[in-house]
Amino acid sequence: MDVRSELKPPVEVRYREELEALRALDTDRKPLNWKMSPKAVRTFILGSREPLSWNGKEISIRKKYLGNDALVERCIITLAGSRGLMLVGEPGTAKTMLSELLAAAISGTSMNTIQGTAGTTEDMIKYSWNYALLLAKGPVREALVPSPLYVGMEQGILTRFEEITRTPAEIQDSLISVLSDKVLNVPELGEEGLLFARPGFNVIGTANTRDKGVNEMSSALKRRFNFETVMPVRDVTLEKQIILNEVEELAQENQIAMEPDEDVAEILASTYHELREGVSSLGHRIDRPAAVMSTAEAVSVYYQTMLTAYYYGDSRMDLGCLVQNLVGAVQKENGEDLEKLRGYFQTVIRDKGGKEGGLWSSYYEARKYLR
Ligand SMILES: Nc1ncnc2c1ncn2[C@@H]1O[C@H](COP(=O)(O)OP(=O)(O)OP(=O)(O)O)[C@@H](O)[C@H]1O
Ligand SMILES: [Mg+2]
Repeated sequence: MDVRSELKPPVEVRYREELEALRALDTDRKPLNWKMSPKAVRTFILGSREPLSWNGKEISIRKKYLGNDALVERCIITLAGSRGLMLVGEPGTAKTMLSELLAAAISGTSMNTIQGTAGTTEDMIKYSWNYALLLAKGPVREALVPSPLYVGMEQGILTRFEEITRTPAEIQDSLISVLSDKVLNVPELGEEGLLFARPGFNVIGTANTRDKGVNEMSSALKRRFNFETVMPVRDVTLEKQIILNEVEELAQENQIAMEPDEDVAEILASTYHELREGVSSLGHRIDRPAAVMSTAEAVSVYYQTMLTAYYYGDSRMDLGCLVQNLVGAVQKENGEDLEKLRGYFQTVIRDKGGKEGGLWSSYYEARKYLR
């Protein structure tokens, strides 16, 4: 077994073989400076039916984003055009994941990223100076510390801007001129200070609708982006599949030799689905918790339980432990959510236990941990 040097390798490292094979076999039309065609980018994100034969090997391209294929296609086309792409939506709907996959496929790197926070300044978006060099040599290119936006323009690659709406609106607005004119001016460099973006440059922003509102973006900036809303998964089977895929990959990366349990994934997926939708498969009305019931949370509740089974238990998923982790995830926002979760167990899970028996009854018994 090889020992990974990074805890979480970037997308382009994790899927290096898939990306190499797709590039090598790509014969379709490609926008200037893209590493692969829009068709190949699509295949990378949505998977291929048949494995690719390349370099004497069969390489399967796994479906990485499950849900809305048309959304992925629109995102790719937006990036080939002149407007930026803004992915907005509830937390944990794979906005970051999608933007990393797009950047890795199109530009070969997902790491050219600005992380938006309340403390993001204009320097971090445009450029800053290495003061030692600035004092020694004056304002020359060598003394300039380029931002990810600068690097994107200079090299013709994508710049990701994570959580853009957490940045103060007037700072966000420093993107406007770059996005409309595709030029960045560094007045200190005099005549050489005009940086014209190379083809291939574009910006992918992500914004979370639960954080400080997307509405706080200026309308001038909004007009420079095509907005795509990434919706939570609406289908239990799909959500179960996402949990299984993600957990399997996490386990592999961290060398946890344990197979995920499909039935437990189904129980968890349906719990998340029903609490999010406010209605059960048996028709009960459910009081929805205020906490975000995202697929990403479901993945982490499952994985947490799996780790406990692996390190403390007998490598079998324990429903009591699952419920304890669920409590941790749901209780984040306020105490009333726990009451709602208890109500859900007393009605929905009790009835499912009565009807289906088996794991559902054990799940109902595990309600004793809802404290
Ligand atoms: N439709 C989906 N397809 C595949 N994985 C999904 C999907 N929805 C959620 N996930 C899972 O959830 C995780 C989403 O995490 P990600 O950080 O990308 O979400 P996000 O939308 O950026 O959330 P936040 O707004 O909190 O930043 C993925 O890594 C994946 O495990
Ligand atoms: Mg994110």
